[in-house]
Amino acid sequence: LFASVEMAPRDPILGLTEAFNADTRATKVNLGVGVYYDDNGKIPLLAAVREAEKVRLESAPPRGYLPIEGIPGYNTAVQQLLFGADSPLLAAGRVATFEALGGTGGLKIGADFLKRLQPDAQVWISDPSWENHRALFEAAGFKVNAYPYYDATSQGVNFDGMLACLNGLPANSIVVLHACCHNPTGVDLTAEQWPRVVEAVKARGLIAFLDCAYQGFGDGIEADAAALRIFGASGLDFFVSSSFSKSFSLYGERVGALSIVTESKEEAARVTSQVKRVIRTNYSNPPTHGAAVVAAVLTTPALRQQWEKELGEMRERIRAMRTGLVDKLAAAGVSRDFSFVTRQRGMFSYSGLTSAQVDRLRDEYGIYAVGTGRICLAALNSKNLDYVGNAIAAILKG
Ligand code: LMR
Repeated sequence: LFASVEMAPRDPILGLTEAFNADTRATKVNLGVGVYYDDNGKIPLLAAVREAEKVRLESAPPRGYLPIEGIPGYNTAVQQLLFGADSPLLAAGRVATFEALGGTGGLKIGADFLKRLQPDAQVWISDPSWENHRALFEAAGFKVNAYPYYDATSQGVNFDGMLACLNGLPANSIVVLHACCHNPTGVDLTAEQWPRVVEAVKARGLIAFLDCAYQGFGDGIEADAAALRIFGASGLDFFVSSSFSKSFSLYGERVGALSIVTESKEEAARVTSQVKRVIRTNYSNPPTHGAAVVAAVLTTPALRQQWEKELGEMRERIRAMRTGLVDKLAAAGVSRDFSFVTRQRGMFSYSGLTSAQVDRLRDEYGIYAVGTGRICLAALNSKNLDYVGNAIAAILKG
């Protein structure tokens, strides 16, 4: 049965962690996967999460099945975070939200539902995009294309190219957009550019699917929701996948959501009934623990305040590492201007390192980065910054 099964290539991101874990060098650093490590190189357990978990465990709740769509209070808290507690969308009941297995789970349920809805549509992702976007939509049966996004010369967005592409797409094309902290480039659209994207989506009858995995890691929880709010005010129907993996440091609990903005409460009810079928045939219903913890933190004022403080500290630490790396490279004699790293948002930098340079970093220094040159600044700390900076400098100098 399996004689003809070929060995699949390693996952471009999670496969790096496999290789990193097998590396025995004490100085190794994993700048590959998008995970936040604290200054001691540990994945933090947030104090707000710890407190909510304690309360939950003490109450020894029974472990029944959740509803197919997940914990209702969690789904409401997700909607409020994405669209704002006072959003007219929520008051009108236009949003259907489903607890999902991380942001990836939200994307997958959305992709499967879209395939039933628009079987002939094609998907457009940014060039470049998160590696798994293409694979995931292809696995759902779609042809996946790319719209222009990153401009290597300006280290910014090729916005004219992007708009020209969107304005040439057939109706019902599915356009995947990064709501904030673009992965992998760290380069976002501005508050002035988003309305023009909305205009194009409207004019061409496109279907927007916003991926929001890093809310709070750019400029703050509210500021990072700007694109969602602009889409929310547009009258359009659209999809949002969201994740608490990073913002709650709950990677392994797989806490995310899919939210679908519809035209009316009645439409939301019909959409909900169909998405529930998609979920039921995938994994039946979602797990309880992570979503219960997140819902408790988001809806308990003292815990919410604590979480916002901790999220702010993570954001600030990453910013300090951006500046630290740029300073370190300059101090190590690198003449290339790396100041763009401080202008990028979120966990990542599209560093400009070539795939050969990435290979050398791994082979010679045990420093792991994605083959495209994407590095995760959230894995830098006061102890490894010199090592990483000097290694990159040495490789850049040849
Ligand atoms: C990443 O881009 O590194 C993260 O989103 C983790 C993942 O699942 O790829």
